Amino acid sequence: MVNKITVVGAGNVGATTAQRLAEKELARQVVMVDVIEGVPQGKGLDQWESAPIELFDSRVIGSNGYEETAGSDIVVITAGIARKPGMSRDDLLNTNAGIVKAVALEVKKTSPHAIIIMVSNPLDVMAYVALKVTGFPRERVLGMAGVLDTARYRSFLAEALDVSVRDIQAMVLGGHGDTMVPIVSYTTVSGIPVTQFIDKAKLDAIVDRTRNGGAEIVKYLKTGSAYYAPSAAAVQMCEAIALDQKRVLPCAAWLQGEYGMKDLFLGVPCKLGRKGLEGILEVELSADERTALEKSAAAVREPMAAVKL
Ligand SMILES: NC(=O)c1ccc[n+]([C@@H]2O[C@H](COP(=O)([O-])OP(=O)(O)OC[C@H]3O[C@@H](n4cnc5c(N)ncnc54)[C@H](O)[C@@H]3O)[C@@H](O)[C@H]2O)c1
Repeated sequence: MVNKITVVGAGNVGATTAQRLAEKELARQVVMVDVIEGVPQGKGLDQWESAPIELFDSRVIGSNGYEETAGSDIVVITAGIARKPGMSRDDLLNTNAGIVKAVALEVKKTSPHAIIIMVSNPLDVMAYVALKVTGFPRERVLGMAGVLDTARYRSFLAEALDVSVRDIQAMVLGGHGDTMVPIVSYTTVSGIPVTQFIDKAKLDAIVDRTRNGGAEIVKYLKTGSAYYAPSAAAVQMCEAIALDQKRVLPCAAWLQGEYGMKDLFLGVPCKLGRKGLEGILEVELSADERTALEKSAAAVREPMAAVKL
């Protein structure tokens, strides 16, 4: 257990993340921050009141400022707005970049030793904004995308093969968007290549469904996007860090030559422990997978160039 984890943004993803963190007792204190007056306080109190039933001692509180967040060990950033009618992607990009920049400056001031887990979209670019604005080393700025995309992929495979989700091992790499790269060559059922259990057409359909996993939920919800699986994914990253688990998880990390790429956030296999990013695993990829990863990197670089810092 660490002392304090802050979640910025008390919307769907943020509030669910705070609840999961508290229920798992990953921090003595979980602080939710949002700009809307009363909402983080109300949700925090409501969650704390569930403690005697759910049996956790993590204190959850909400705030509109950063005083209560001081000295956080981990800060999960989920603040942002969704695209509104008439807004271009670049407008959204720069609106959310402005929000993330303001948040990152506060984090730098109040929790200079924190490890940041970025969740706000566009994910890879927002992680870049946080890295630049805080000046934190890359070990302490990570993006959550790969754990979620991989969970979606694994859940679809478990369903198709009628086996436990526990026995599906997989990694989805690349940027968080429709260019993400599910690595089929390393997808196994208890260590046995998945291609021995499923034909190519079915596997291709699952890969495609994974790429569009976010959009599939938006289509159902209409007014919002996914948050149960995204919050679970952010919490898995927090858990690996808080408990110094040295887990190998696909996360967006700032590449410095790994996979032949430099100066961008991209989803790669990362080792997470108490220091944050404790290593990037460079694994062999097929020629097709490498090409797909490079294509995905190009899709990340484009909005990165458009963002105003
Ligand atoms: N990385 C991923 O895989 C992934 C998955 C799901 C959602 N997301 C992203 O996470 C973000 C949050 O999604 P959501 O569904 O919770 O949205 P939401 O609208 O429910 O919540 C966002 C919250 O941010 C708050 N906010 C806005 N500006 C703020 C600021 N300056 N400081 C603090 N709080 C501020 C809003 O008041 C709101 O409560 C979005 O950008 C979404 O696209 C990413």
